[in-house]
Amino acid sequence: MRRPKISLIGGGQVGGNIALLAAQKELGDLTIIDIPESENFIKGKALDISQLLPLEGYDVKINASSNFSDIQDSDAIVITAGFPRQPGMNREDLLKKNLDIISNVAKQVKKYAPNAFVIVVSNPLDAMVYAFYKVSGFAKNKVVGMAGALDSTRFRAFIAEATGLSSQDINCMVLGGHGDTMVPVSRLATIGGVPLTSILDQKTIKSIEERTRFGGGEIVKLFGKGSAFYAPAQSSVEMLESFIKDKKRVIPCASLCHGEFGIDGYFIGVPTVIGSGGVEKVIDFELTDSEKKALEDTIKAVKNTVKETGL
Ligand code: LAC
Repeated sequence: MRRPKISLIGGGQVGGNIALLAAQKELGDLTIIDIPESENFIKGKALDISQLLPLEGYDVKINASSNFSDIQDSDAIVITAGFPRQPGMNREDLLKKNLDIISNVAKQVKKYAPNAFVIVVSNPLDAMVYAFYKVSGFAKNKVVGMAGALDSTRFRAFIAEATGLSSQDINCMVLGGHGDTMVPVSRLATIGGVPLTSILDQKTIKSIEERTRFGGGEIVKLFGKGSAFYAPAQSSVEMLESFIKDKKRVIPCASLCHGEFGIDGYFIGVPTVIGSGGVEKVIDFELTDSEKKALEDTIKAVKNTVKETGL
């Protein structure tokens, strides 16, 4: 039985950190792909990571290349290729630049790794995962977007900070698009099984929701150039691990909905079961009227961005 083969399309800050974190979990052999101008840089990263592995005894191989044929027969692919946000930009401003990149990547993935499970991370996420799906023609269970995992871990981190309680015991989800209209569902957040709403007052909860919605932007502003990468990388690895190990974790992911939550034909952040079958199930559940209204607003925003792809 061979090790799983995982390819990372894009060897920038997010891609490089995914390589490191996935190697440290021994999820599989890794191939990092980037443009020819970056080939030496990613080869350097791959070599550097491969040299830390003996310290803890991790046995995986890491290669880097600018040749798409090296993704041949990958079991899983994570796409982070594309430009990151700069201060003053929202994720939607990246659409035109990154659409060409994702469309090309989709054609190459279809050619060399038609059976892979694909996690799209590039922004604007909801439109890029849609574009990958349309251009590649992949089955809907084989394509998913990473956003809700990241937005939810930010939500968790802020709840942990506000309560002083362990983030390990905090369970919460963010639904909707990966933009300013995302929906942190505080009503269902729990700490050690206790509802968050009985631990924090409404005003504090509202301010945590607000900070979560703009969590990516807060980091873009601090960096002054580029966007977050550590938490995005770990969130991608969480999804990758659930697939590789068939864990069937329930993670908020941008999954293609056909009827769930009243959404038809769009990738929106919804509770998703990820296992060896890829996206195995979207779990639909009853929302309150105000949550429904918030979800409608985020769906509208996602539809507008998707429309701009012309796909
Ligand atoms: C963020 C980017 C990666 O939310 O979308 O940080």
